[in-house]
Amino acid sequence: MTTAVVPGAGSGTGDLSVWPASAARLADGDVAVGGVPLGAVADRFGTPVYVLDEGEVRERCRTYREAFAGAEVLYAAKAFLCRAVVRWVREEGLGLDVCSAGELELAVTAGFPPERIWLHGNAKSPRDLAGALRLGVGRIVIDGPSEIARISAGAGPRARQKVLVRVVPGVSAGGHDKIRTGVEGQKFGLSLADGSALDAVLRVLAQPRLELTGLHCHIGSQITAVEPYLVAVRRMVGLMARVRDTAGVVLPELDVGGGHGVAHRPGEPALDPVELARELRGVLADSCATAGLPVPRLVIEPGRGVVGPAGVAVYRVLAVKRSGGTLFVAVDGGMGDNPRPALYGVRYAPRLIGRASAAAPLTATVVGRHCEAGDVLAAGVGLPGDVRPGDLLAVPVAGAYQLSMASGYNLVGRPPVVSVHGGSARLLVRRETLEDVRLRDIGD
Ligand code: LLP
Repeated sequence: MTTAVVPGAGSGTGDLSVWPASAARLADGDVAVGGVPLGAVADRFGTPVYVLDEGEVRERCRTYREAFAGAEVLYAAKAFLCRAVVRWVREEGLGLDVCSAGELELAVTAGFPPERIWLHGNAKSPRDLAGALRLGVGRIVIDGPSEIARISAGAGPRARQKVLVRVVPGVSAGGHDKIRTGVEGQKFGLSLADGSALDAVLRVLAQPRLELTGLHCHIGSQITAVEPYLVAVRRMVGLMARVRDTAGVVLPELDVGGGHGVAHRPGEPALDPVELARELRGVLADSCATAGLPVPRLVIEPGRGVVGPAGVAVYRVLAVKRSGGTLFVAVDGGMGDNPRPALYGVRYAPRLIGRASAAAPLTATVVGRHCEAGDVLAAGVGLPGDVRPGDLLAVPVAGAYQLSMASGYNLVGRPPVVSVHGGSARLLVRRETLEDVRLRDIGD
C-alpha cells in the first residue's frame, strides 16, 4: 500500500471539502482517512464498510465544548452509537442523550456515567423508564402528561428525579418535513401556543418526587440557519417567564436540542457551531434581561454535527450497465445501510477510490443491491467513464443516521464499522454474518 500524498490535495481542498479534515488523496488514486488508505480498509475488512475517523469525531466534540464553554453539550446517540464512540465522547467531556433502553445499555456498559445521560422519547417504554430510573440517569425529558405519574411512581421515595418538559415552540426548521419537530401537528413535545406545555410544567411542579430543572425543545434536524434557534430561544424564555409568574419558580436549565446541519456535497451550507453559540448566547442574555430572569444553563444536543462528517461509507461496484439512457452503477450496499436518500431525498457525492482514472467523467446513477427501484444512493453524479465492477466507491458524510437507521432488508446484513486514527485501522463493530441471520430465527 502507498501512503504518498498528492501535494496540495490534502484536507479541505477541492472535492474533499466535505470529507474528514484528515482526508488526503494518494498518488495511486486512493484516498486516505486518518492516515489509512481506504482501499486497504476495504481489502482488510471487506465491503461495504463504514469508516469512522476518530480524530474528526474528537475534534468536533472539542469545537462544541469550546464554542459552548459553560454550557452542557450532550451527544445525541441516535446519530450513531457504539462502544468506542461512547468512550470518545466521554473523554472529550460531553454528556449523552439517549432515547431507548438499548442506547442506555450500550452507554452504561461502556462506562458512561449515568448521571451524565439524559433520556428522551415521545413514547418511553416501561423498560426505557425502569432502566433510566434504576441506573439513575441525570435527566428525563418529559414528552407528555402521562409520563409525569409514571416517572414519579418509578422514582421511589429516596431521590427526586430531575426532569425537563419538552415544548413545541412553533418554529419550522429542518432539512425535510419528516425531521421538522418544532411545529404543531407532529408527535413530539407539548404545545407552547395551546397552553399544554405550561399545564404539564405545573403538574410536574406539583409532584414531590420530581424536580423540574428546565425546559427543552428540539426544533428539527439538518438545520443550516441560526435564526430558527433564536426565535425558539425567545419563545422558550417567554415560557420560562410565564412559569415564574404563574408558579413562582425560576427554572435553571434551557435545552435547545440539536439539529445542526452539515454539508453532504461540496458547496452546500452547514451550521457553524461557533456562530450558533455566539448568537444563542446573545439572544438568551437579551431575552432573559428583558424578562427579568437569570440566564439559565444552556444545553445543546448535537448528533449529526459530531459524527456525520467523520464517517465514510465504502462500497464495491458489483455491476455497471446502461439502460434506458441511464448509466447504472450498482454497489454492494444501499438502502439497507443508508435509507436517507429514499426517506429524505438527501443527495450524496460518491467518489471513485482505490485507483486512479484518467477517463472523462460520465453522469451515473449509483444504486444499491436491494430489491426495489427506490434503492438509489446518488442519482446523476459524475464518475470516471471507465467505472467498472470491482471498483471502490466512497460516500463521505456517512457517519450519522445511516448505520443507526440500517435495516435488515433482504437479509443482506449490516456492514462493519472501522475506526481510523494515526495511520491504523481498528474494527469497532463487526459485520453481520450469515450465521447471525440464522441464529436469531429460532422458530420453524
Ligand atoms: N435531540 C433530540 C431530542 C433529537 O430528537 C435529535 C434528533 C437530536 C437531539 C439530534 O439531532 P441532530 O443534531 O443529529 O440533527 N434520521 C434523520 C434525523 C432525525 C433526527 C432525530 N432527532 C436524518 O437522517 O436526517
